[in-house]
Amino acid sequence: MGVTWLKPVDVGRDAQSAYGEFLRDLEARLADPGTDRFVLAREVLAEAMYGRPYAALLADAPLAALNLDARNVTFEAEYYMATDTELFGRVKPLLWLWKNLDLTPVGQNPVLGIPVRRVLAERIFRRVGRNFKCWQNVEFSVGYNMEVGDDVVVHRHVLLDDIGGIELHDNASISDYVNVYSHTHSVLDGPDVTLRRTVIGRGARITYHSTVLAGSVVSDDAMLATHALLRSDIPPHGIAMGVPARTTRFKVREPQELRVDSRSFVRAPDRKANPEFPEPTPNQTRVASEEEGAGRRVVTGER
Ligand SMILES: CC(C)(COP(=O)(O)OP(=O)(O)OC[C@H]1O[C@@H](n2cnc3c(N)ncnc32)[C@H](O)[C@@H]1OP(=O)(O)O)[C@@H](O)C(=O)NCCC(=O)NCCS
Repeated sequence: MGVTWLKPVDVGRDAQSAYGEFLRDLEARLADPGTDRFVLAREVLAEAMYGRPYAALLADAPLAALNLDARNVTFEAEYYMATDTELFGRVKPLLWLWKNLDLTPVGQNPVLGIPVRRVLAERIFRRVGRNFKCWQNVEFSVGYNMEVGDDVVVHRHVLLDDIGGIELHDNASISDYVNVYSHTHSVLDGPDVTLRRTVIGRGARITYHSTVLAGSVVSDDAMLATHALLRSDIPPHGIAMGVPARTTRFKVREPQELRVDSRSFVRAPDRKANPEFPEPTPNQTRVASEEEGAGRRVVTGER
């Protein structure tokens, strides 16, 4: 364990034992290959949201019940050509469980919500290491393209668009209201989509309200300042700031062994998501001239 500024917090013993039982049961049911994940998810949600079994809810309140069963709902990612139908079908009920538990006291209560998400992440992500700590209201695109190391923290209200793949290396931290993308659209043709793996290195911090665009590589121990928009890379120990973000400072740090170093990192090749646009998208913009408004203040009329 590294240095932390956090302290342990206890809840009532009865609650703790009920939560422990719930978690063990959830883990056991997920580990059983005979479990129908759609049924499991709707049962847990019926109890957490309405305090009764799914069948009873279906009889009394069919609209409420039907929407708890992931077979009756769609996700935005299901409309993407790039989504693997089979892989998504396996994680879909678990993503539905995750999202909807976040709307309930179970999900809003970190002492229960964080361990529940740890159990679900193990069955959704491509890989997840020790002590994954995910707070409430985090969204994924497909979930199955997430690769997460040890001791990674993701804070509240984060969007992890993993359709093109996201790597979060050991000890990385993603702050509140961050958006991390791994796909991009052509300027001229919206349906021309490129998938780019986005990489956040070891101990890197993506701080509050910042955005990381697809294909960025944030090196080990680097930092993205609050509200920044990253569209390229950050070298090791670098601090990138502004819109668009530029690395203008470095942490004062003794040399360290580096694993993710944007200067030498071997990137996964870009992938095209739509067979109608198989070629790499060329540059499709030019600089505006003075007459066209570059640097000109637009006057909209007299007051
Ligand atoms: C980037 C950051 C670390 C800078 O810290 P610092 O080195 O102590 O910063 P200073 O206040 O001395 O500012 C240094 C320069 O960076 C600029 N700057 C600081 N934060 C900035 C930001 N978010 N966006 C743009 N510029 C910023 C300052 O204006 C200053 O510019 P100047 O040299 O032209 O005057 C900090 O502002 C920040 O964004 N922190 C994020 C919050 C955080 O720690 N979250 C952790 C969650 S896990």
